Amino acid sequence: MDNITISKIYQWKKEKIKFAALTVYDFSFARLFFEEGIQVMLVGDSLGITIQGHNSTIPVTVKDIVYHVRGVRKGAPNSLIIADLPFMSYTCPKKAFKNSKKIIQAGANIIKIEGGHWLKDIVSLLTERSIPVCGHIGLTPQSINLFGKYKVQGRAQEQFHQILSDAIILEKSGLKMIVVECITSELAKQMTKELKIPIIGIGSGNKTDGQILVMHDALGITSGNIPKFVKNFLIKNNNIRSAIRAYVYEVKNSIFPSLEHTFL
Ligand code: KIV
Repeated sequence: MDNITISKIYQWKKEKIKFAALTVYDFSFARLFFEEGIQVMLVGDSLGITIQGHNSTIPVTVKDIVYHVRGVRKGAPNSLIIADLPFMSYTCPKKAFKNSKKIIQAGANIIKIEGGHWLKDIVSLLTERSIPVCGHIGLTPQSINLFGKYKVQGRAQEQFHQILSDAIILEKSGLKMIVVECITSELAKQMTKELKIPIIGIGSGNKTDGQILVMHDALGITSGNIPKFVKNFLIKNNNIRSAIRAYVYEVKNSIFPSLEHTFL
């Protein structure tokens, strides 16, 4: 089987073929997800919450990400693996490069970083050194102490334009794709239209090129406060394989996210 490459994702965008991605943190789930049609995976720093039991992504280290990337790569040798640079591991281009190198050597294909236009020098340097970068804008969980709580981004005009302009600046700096989290569906739609790079949405409506969910949310493992944009695919499917297949089907056919999972 051919490897899933960045150019493949660009081709999907051009041909308007939607794709479903999931977070994954270990060998067994990576293998199962790939077998059921998940070709893009994220070793997210959400592992701080889902695996380590913290109440935010802040405590996650580069070493943690490296450990989980190794397992995921073994389970999904052909998938496109995005991995997070965790909190404070990319405070300057040099530090970002040093830490990205470790994660790429562990088996990731793309490094993901959270933030806006101020990351442009980091994006340029990593790209020049052959490390592809995925952005993450809108709700950025590493900034929880600044936001105070997880809330929808881009409703006010000024914020709408700021987020869009951040994405454009980062694209010009070499960004290869971008995750948009909890932005209004209108903003996500405009961004998907204006930018050449693929846009992967979470809680951002169904007009983006791809969708991503945290695997624990998609399988109903998460308890407590479940965000509006989350759907538990196990409810109507009696095993994990069918649930993942249903998720892939619903994303590809723009059934998920529906209006009930969308912020207007
Ligand atoms: O870490 C993570 O799981 C993420 C997703 C919310 C996209 O960044």
